[in-house]
Amino acid sequence: MVPAVPALPRPLCPVCRARGRAPGPLAIEPGWRAADDDARTVEQGVLACGDAACGARLPVIDGVPVLVPDPDRYFAEAGVYVLARDDLDPAVADAVGRYLSGGSWYDAVRQHLSSYGRDHWGEFDPDDRDDPPCGSTGALVEAAIARAGVPDGPLAGTVVDLGCAAGGITRALADRTGGPVVGIDLSAPLARLARRALARGEVRYPRRRVGSVYDLRGFPVPRPRGSATVWIADALAVPLPDASAALVVAPNLLDCVADPAALLREIERLLMPGGMAVLTTPFDWSHAATPPPNWIGGRSIADGGPSLVTFVRQNSNLSPLVEESAVPWTVRLHDRATMTYSVRSLAVHKIVV
Ligand SMILES: C[S@@+](CC[C@H](N)C(=O)[O-])C[C@H]1O[C@@H](n2cnc3c(N)ncnc32)[C@H](O)[C@@H]1O
Repeated sequence: MVPAVPALPRPLCPVCRARGRAPGPLAIEPGWRAADDDARTVEQGVLACGDAACGARLPVIDGVPVLVPDPDRYFAEAGVYVLARDDLDPAVADAVGRYLSGGSWYDAVRQHLSSYGRDHWGEFDPDDRDDPPCGSTGALVEAAIARAGVPDGPLAGTVVDLGCAAGGITRALADRTGGPVVGIDLSAPLARLARRALARGEVRYPRRRVGSVYDLRGFPVPRPRGSATVWIADALAVPLPDASAALVVAPNLLDCVADPAALLREIERLLMPGGMAVLTTPFDWSHAATPPPNWIGGRSIADGGPSLVTFVRQNSNLSPLVEESAVPWTVRLHDRATMTYSVRSLAVHKIVV
């Protein structure tokens, strides 16, 4: 008998939660369009909140729902990324990239797709045997999960991959646990890459050669063994119920959010008693992502240096397990440059009371 694939959770209304109302599940409005290859999957449609006082109507585009707490702000700031096309022929993308190069939004998007697309999926690219090896984040997360003693196989709740980027870790977690796994990212181009890989087994991404020269890579990848999906959502406002997650991973996300302590509180909210979370971070603070007062151990010598254990103890009731202080994490920039970070990695446990 073929084991049943666990059903994916239904998203709760992120707008209601942000406004302090009890969030109900969103429902797809009639008239939605199915994916070509799966009549049950929504390719385009609108997810509506049933609470008349809310009235949120959140679009699903290319199979990826936009589940953010402040849609007006998200679309004002990032609507261009949601609507930008990613199906240009290589020569056309190259011509556009020549004029929309260094410092432009297009260049930033292509760099992210290049770095995370390759690290998460490059192991399946038959023509990519280059250095650095692919799978750096996967190795980091796998090692942290193993150290924490998370059992192989099904878990009692949802698995959440916060800051899932190109979705390679989401896939690995679905293979490991059978799902359901939800990948969460605010970047529409990365979420689309992840969704196409998970749902269709196709990866297509621009791999940066040098400067504004990118090569389009396209290859099949194995679909995950278990159920997995990707939502455009804020890791600080995840549209899932309290105490619904058995495992949360947040690889290299803590130093990308405005409020790292709020991320920890959100992880604590999501975890069920006995649940585990894995955090890794290079503490690569930037003003653009995190206001300096929120940096952990990165403002002055008096801070005492970065420690995830101290941060967790000061900001949550989660129980820290082993902290690894210097695990390598590589991010390939282009043919001639790779950034190697030394990250801290910590597993935490939500105690059963
Ligand atoms: C440094 S990258 C790490 C990506 C991936 N976890 C890895 O380690 O390979 C951070 C990712 O988090 C996403 N991100 C940043 N802030 C976020 C937020 N508030 N909510 C969800 N995703 C966020 C970015 O779009 C990016 O994909």
